[in-house]
Order: sequence, then structure tokens, then C-alpha cells
Amino acid sequence: MADKQFDVLVIGGGPGGYVAAIRAAQLGFKTACAESNPYADPKGEPRLGGTCLNVGCIPSKALLHTSHLFEEAEHAFPTQGIRLEGKVSIDVPVMIGRKNRVVDQLTSGIKGLFKKNKVTFLAGHGSFEGNGPAGYVVRVGAETVEARHVIIATGSKPRHLPGIPVDNRIVCDNVGALDFDSVPKKLGVIGAGVIGLEMGSVWRRLGAEVTVLEALPDFMPFADMDVAKEALKVFTKQGLDIRTGVTIGETKVGADGVSLAYTGKDGKEARLECERLIVSVGRVPNTEGLNASTVGLDVSDRGQIVVDGHCRTNLPNVYAVGDVVRGPMLAHKAMEEAVMVAEIIAGQAGHANLDTVPGVIYTSPEIAWVGKSEQQLKAEGVAYRAGKIPFMANGRALGTGDPTGFVKMLADANTDRILGVHIIGANASELISEAVVAMEFGGAAEDLARICHAHPTLSEVVHEAALAVDKRPLHF
Ligand code: FAD
Ligand code: NAI
Repeated sequence: MADKQFDVLVIGGGPGGYVAAIRAAQLGFKTACAESNPYADPKGEPRLGGTCLNVGCIPSKALLHTSHLFEEAEHAFPTQGIRLEGKVSIDVPVMIGRKNRVVDQLTSGIKGLFKKNKVTFLAGHGSFEGNGPAGYVVRVGAETVEARHVIIATGSKPRHLPGIPVDNRIVCDNVGALDFDSVPKKLGVIGAGVIGLEMGSVWRRLGAEVTVLEALPDFMPFADMDVAKEALKVFTKQGLDIRTGVTIGETKVGADGVSLAYTGKDGKEARLECERLIVSVGRVPNTEGLNASTVGLDVSDRGQIVVDGHCRTNLPNVYAVGDVVRGPMLAHKAMEEAVMVAEIIAGQAGHANLDTVPGVIYTSPEIAWVGKSEQQLKAEGVAYRAGKIPFMANGRALGTGDPTGFVKMLADANTDRILGVHIIGANASELISEAVVAMEFGGAAEDLARICHAHPTLSEVVHEAALAVDKRPLHF
């Protein structure tokens, strides 16, 4: 007999796990959530919130905000007549301290949400022990738990490169990159993906000379080609030195920095000397110590737990959500799947549409998209119409002094149904929601074209892009 019995046990307390636990409890199940990682907890106690709250979305956005303010004070204030006497400077420990307080507030807030929703928090690593009379038996720390339903939400961890050991001091993954104690003079970044661009931007804005080394020949191939082209132009102008098509060679790490050999796109050997190096080459699903094989849980060669469209694993009553399964590694995707699974367990329909999961890069300008890119539609042979409007044509964007970028809408040439929306520009992360709603409702470009948008707002550019699909923009 296990020490504790629950209807639902969630393993992992990140966005996938804590949301699944809250929703399951709301639906009337006796629910527990196990989490083992203390992250940076001063008492070493496991903290809820997972990668996202502790070492991902939230701390990175806090630093992006501070560094954006710093850059605005340095470069944008004078253009609008605001004079600061003396040189603008950054107190890195204060910046990091504020970021840590935001993280503390949010992670402890989830403990509060658990209390409110009557979710039992089990501090400890969860690993399958086998089957019991009433469900699955899982060891969590020193005790055993039996649950009829198990939701695995064990997330992901950074991928590291052979020969480049991460100490999170000189050579950092996302954990160390969010915790520098000073601005490095020279920063190297391996991987021009989302973390490379966001963290590279943070430290560049604060004064670091940043070189980004990317293996693929093209920059941001996952984005719409027009957006990728514009982003490369803008980021390069800002001072990010982005080199694509490189092959990383021998890396020497010393007490004061890194000396990294690489071969460039042109086949020439080169060397990068930097004080610190961020390795951001993707993340891998985390099933470490889960003891999946004990119960016969299907895990793919890539380490992902194998699930169907409703996040069901090969085992009855065992589900998996978030970064540990297929699909984009995004917090909002994890949360969607979490709610879906809890509702399926409760006998409801449960629904998560991966086709309308938006992607966002929180650089400046921000980049956001939903649906298919133009190159995807071309490759699939889909006939489409495109509308593209620059923020330069928008009064609000000009008024704020930041008219970089554009909105591009792609709609089916026959039905006018919106197939993809791609935005590069200020507040793209917020603007994309309108496109997500429209696509989720199966909307057409004409639907958005006929909806009243407040003036003056940046959302008018989305409106104009919808009008432009039918070649009738009013302000461009
Ligand atoms: P995780 O958040 O990784 O949580 C899994 C949890 O399970 C962890 O806390 C882990 O300790 C715990 N765990 C693992 N195994 C066990 C076990 N056996 N027993 C008990 N506990 C266990 N996404 C966005 O949508 N927007 C962003 O802006 C964004 N920014 C990011 C910035 C960075 C620097 C990084 C690294 C990621 C970012 N992400 C962002 C991605 C986002 O953090 C993840 O997609 C999200 O956290 C996935 O949620 P999850 O619950 O699946 O996994
Ligand atoms: P990523 O997959 O976004 O980018 C990794 C990059 O590294 C790719 O461009 C890849 O080609 C390159 N790369 C791989 N191996 C390499 C090598 N040996 N040498 C040089 N380049 C190499 O992964 P990243 O940036 O580590 O982020 C992980 C995930 O975390 C993201 O995919 C995303 O899901 C999530 N995330 C989301 C954010 C957001 O939503 N704003 C912010 C940060 C992370």
C-alpha cells in the first residue's frame, strides 16, 4: 500500500505541470504535483514554476525590459528631447536582484494558487515504481504515491555541446546567461535561435560586444523569409555580429574567458576570444530518473515521451504535456495541453490546436507569428494572397518613435481564410493575439478588414495588412 493516494498525480511543476494540477483540482480530482528542482531557492527547497518562471520566460523578459529601458535612455531619450545629465550606467547586481524578486514573487504565487485550488505540493523527484491496485505507484522523494491518473510534465533541459563544458560562470546555458554579475566586454553566443537572440540582445544593449555563431547557413529559417531578412538587417545594425554557416571547432576555456575556433561559411578558419560564452543550441526533453521503462512508457529515440493528439501516452491513464512531448517548446503550448488533459480525464472533450500556437521572440523589434510562413505555403503548393504593411505607415508607431518592421498576412487565394500572420515590430507579442483569435475562429482576411480597430493604435497595421490582402489598404 502506497503512503498516499490521489486521483491525479502530476510529475513536474512547470507551466505544463502546475496548470494541469490546478485544472484537475478545479474539476474535483484529489490532485498532487511533484517537483524536485530547487533552482536558486535560498533554502534549497523545490520551487514551482519550472524552467519558465525560474530560468526561462520570466527572468529573460525581466532582463529584456531593463536592458530595453537602458537602451532607450541612452539612444531614444535624446531624440525626443529628454536630456540626462552625465552618462547612463547600469548596476548589474541591482538589475539581477529585481529579476530575482519577480521570479520569487511568481514562484511563491503558484504555491498560493495550489493552496487556493487544494492541490497537494509534493517536494521531491518523481519516478515510476510500478502498478498498484488503484493505479500507478510513483516514488516521490521518500514516500510512495498511488494515483489513478498520471500527467508527466517533466519539461526540458539545455542541450550542451561536446568539448564545451558548461560551468554557468564562463560558459553558460540559459541558467548562467540570466545571472551574469557584470557586463562582459566580449560575449560569444553559439546558436542564433530564440535564446541566443534574446540573451544576446540583453547583454549587447548593456554594452557587450556580441558575436553569434550559427551552424545553419540561413538566419532564422523557422520564421517567414521576409521577417528573417528584416530581423537580420535590424539586429546587425544594432550591433549583433551574426555569423551563419559556421562549424564550431576546439574550444579552450580559461579562468578569464574562452578561445573558440570555428570555420566560417567561406571555409576559412577563425577564432573568437570572449569573456563569456552562451551555449544556446536547443533543448532536450527531460525524462531523467523518471524510470519510464519500469511501467513500459514509450519514449522516442529523441527522448520525447510519445503521445497522440490528445497527449495520451501508450499507457492507459498516463498523459504527457509540454516540452517533454512533440511540438514547440513554449510555455503557452504546455499550458494548453495541460488544460486539455485535465478536461479529458474529467470526461470532457479537451482541445489543444497546435496549428494556432503563436511564436514570439522578445527582441526589439519583437517578432511574432502564427500559422504558415510564405515559404511553407509555397512548398506545399497552396495558392495564397499576401498583404504587407510597414509600421512606418502608422501614426502611433511614428509617434512613439519606433516605426521599424511590418505586418504580413497570408490568406488562402480561394477562400480568403487566414493561413499565417507574421509581425516584426514593437508590441508584436501583443498584436499577434488578434491573428490567433481570427485563425482559431477560421476567420478570413476580409473579417479582420471589416472590424473596427481603435485609432491611433499599432493594431491598425494588422487591419491594414488584412485590407492589403485584397489590395485595398487605406493608409499605404
Ligand atoms: P518545464 O518548465 O521545464 O518544467 C518541468 C519541471 O519538471 C521542472 O521544474 C523540473 O525540475 C521538473 N521535473 C523534471 N523531472 C521531474 C521529476 N522526475 N520529478 C519531479 N519534478 C521533475 N516559452 C515561452 O512560451 N515564452 C517565452 O518567452 C520563453 N522564454 C524562454 C526563455 C528561456 C531562457 C528558456 C530556457 C525557455 C523559454 N521558454 C519560453 C520555454 C518555456 O520555458 C518552456 O516551454 C516551458 O517552461 C515548458 O514547460 P513544461 O512545464 O513543459 O516544462
Ligand atoms: P533554438 O532551437 O531556438 O535555437 C538553437 C540554434 O542553435 C538553432 O538556430 C540551431 O541551428 C543552432 N545550433 C545548433 N547546434 C549548433 C552548433 N553546434 N553550432 C552552432 N549553432 C548550432 O534553441 P534555444 O535558443 O536554445 O532555445 C531553446 C528553446 O527554448 C526554443 O526553441 C524555444 O522553444 C524556447 N524558448 C522560447 C522563447 C520564447 O518563446 N520567446 C525564448 C527562449 C527560449
